[in-house]
Parts: sequence; C-alpha cells; structure tokens
Amino acid sequence: MLGAVPVRVKPWLEEFRGYSPRSYRGVRARLDLNESPYPPPERVVEAVAREAARGNRYPEAEMLERLAGLLSSYTGARPEQIVVGLGGDMVLEKAFHLVLAPGGRMAAPRPSFSMYEVYTRLQGGEPIWVELEPAGGCWRLDWSRFSEAAAGSSLAALDNPNNPTGSLLAPGEGELAELLERLSARGALLILDEAYYEFSGVTYAGLTEAYDNLLVVRTLSKAFSLAGLRIGYAIAHPRLAERLRSIMPPFLPRTSVAAAIAALEDPGYARRVADTVRGEREWLASMLRRLPGVRVYCSYTNFLLVETPVEDVVERLAEQGVAVRRVPLGSNWLRVTVGTPGENRVFLEALSRLLQGQG
Ligand SMILES: Cc1ncc(COP(=O)(O)O)c(C=O)c1O
Repeated sequence: MLGAVPVRVKPWLEEFRGYSPRSYRGVRARLDLNESPYPPPERVVEAVAREAARGNRYPEAEMLERLAGLLSSYTGARPEQIVVGLGGDMVLEKAFHLVLAPGGRMAAPRPSFSMYEVYTRLQGGEPIWVELEPAGGCWRLDWSRFSEAAAGSSLAALDNPNNPTGSLLAPGEGELAELLERLSARGALLILDEAYYEFSGVTYAGLTEAYDNLLVVRTLSKAFSLAGLRIGYAIAHPRLAERLRSIMPPFLPRTSVAAAIAALEDPGYARRVADTVRGEREWLASMLRRLPGVRVYCSYTNFLLVETPVEDVVERLAEQGVAVRRVPLGSNWLRVTVGTPGENRVFLEALSRLLQGQG
C-alpha cells in the first residue's frame, strides 16, 4: 500500500534534482564529458581482472596504503597528506559535507564545475557566485570580488583550470596565501580543484604544507584514462586530510584501487595521453578558428569552450551523432572534449555543416 503521507525528506532536498548518466546509442563522437578518448593501458586492465577474481573479499588496508604511497611519489606530498575517494566527485562532496552546514555559504566562480552547486544544495547551503568575464581570448576571475565572497562563506571552491572555460583563474601564490590567511581566521576552507592538472601543469599543492584550510583535489579520470573506474584524491595538510578521511567510506572497490595502483606505477602513460591531447586540442582550436562566426577560448585542459552563431547548437550536433556539452552561457555555446583525431574531425564536419545551413 502506498503511504498516505509521502516520505518526508529534508526540506532543502524536496526540489533537489541530481545528475544522471545518458545514453550514447547512435553517437559517433563522444565529446561531452571530458573523458580521455584512449582506454587505460593493458597493465591496468590486467590488474582489474586479477582483483575481480578476488571480488569476494573487502579490500585490505595495504591496498590503500600502496595507493597513497604511489600518489605521494607522483605528487611530491607525504602519504599522510593524501585522501582517496571514488573520483574527485566523492572527495569534493565529502569536503562540502565536512564544512558546509544548512544555510552555510559556498563561494565559486560562475560558470564552474556544475557539481559545486549540487554538493551545496545537498547540504542545504547557499551558493554565492562570482561571474567570470572574457578577457583577451581567455576568461578572468575578479580576484578581489572572489576573495570578498569567499571571506563571507564557509567554503570557497575554485576549479583551476576552470570547467567549462578552460582558463586558469588562480592568481599568484602570494595572493592565494593572503586569501588562505583571511579564510583561516574564520575557519573557512578553500578547495582548489586541479582535475585538469596533467594538462595545465599548474599546481598549488605545495601550499598545503603551510595552510591547513586548503584542499587540492585531483583525479585519475582524465589523463590517466580511468573515468569509469572512479578514483580521485585530495592533497591537504595532514590535519585536514585526517578530518576528511574520517568521513570517507572504509572500502573502495578493489578493482578500482588496483587500477589506480597499476596506472600510477607507470605515469608515463598519462604524460603521453596529456601530450597527445594537448597537441590535438591546439589543432582543433586552429581549425575551429577558421570557421565563420566561431570563437574559441584559450584552454589549459582537455576541452574547448566554443561560441557559435548556431542556436541550440548542442541539440543540432546531437542530431548528427555528435555529443558535446551545453554550458550555461547560451544555446549557441558548447564545450567540446578533445577526442581522437577521427572524433575531432567528425565534430568539425558536423559543425561546418550546421554553419552552412545544411545541418
Ligand atoms: C573541475 C572538475 N572537478 C572534478 C571533476 C570530477 O571528476 P571525477 O569525479 O571523475 O574524478 C571534474 C570532471 O569532469 C571536473 O571537471
């Protein structure tokens, strides 16, 4: 029997809508989620198969220790500074959970990674947006406005590089340190989301030694080609890392942990993926710039932000089997992930057809 009164959910979750996966049936170029177009290397696939055969057992502590050790070598941080989760997504969500109380504020640029709003709403918090502005082919964050917004919040999140613009937004270390000190006086947290670090080469992870209110978040979903295996991590001062670790689930899938271990044993693969993608990105950007009425912004990531003269461009590309992502800047904008050379051509041809009015 259906209950007379529907289950009473928390008031701030009544209208809440999450994010759900989509189908790719009929899609010829899958360029919407900033995945790596290249599958993981063979050694990773073998490690996953080995651990799948032990799927009756919960993972042992040694597996996570081994992974933290490898992430320590890869990042230069100490193992006690590393917190691992199911994707950067889980690490971020738990960090929001740790510091954001109902009614609490979260400052972030707009546009930025769409999940920041989701994590904020999940906690009953309130986003405070600081609008990005186009400037000289890139996008720019007004640092003093962001600092003001952050100083009035429990948490500030900055994706650097930013998704969906592709631009680097953080200022120099001095200004970042100043903001961290200001936030520290109020016990507020700054999250620097470096999901695209392998493409940008820019990191502020070194500041986590001195500031225990800075959380740097990274992922193996992009250059390491592990999006479907869901491993991300944070780098923080050991004190903050310990607090965050205390609310993480005790077990992660052993197949995913084994995949991450195998991937980090040979980080050369990710370097090659990042090099290839950067090269392809610049080629794609130069081809897009030749198209009439199309504007492309600078990118330090594996995707490009594109403004076109075509309304509903994302839906119209979808009709041609090309999946790209809508961005909250207008229906003539899109974010395209750099794919394989073949996929990039399919995208370019489909967009050219639309521009010629034949789409
Ligand atoms: C800015 C940013 N942060 C975090 C993530 C999370 O990625 P994942 O959960 O796969 O690690 C993404 C994924 O696209 C992203 O763009």
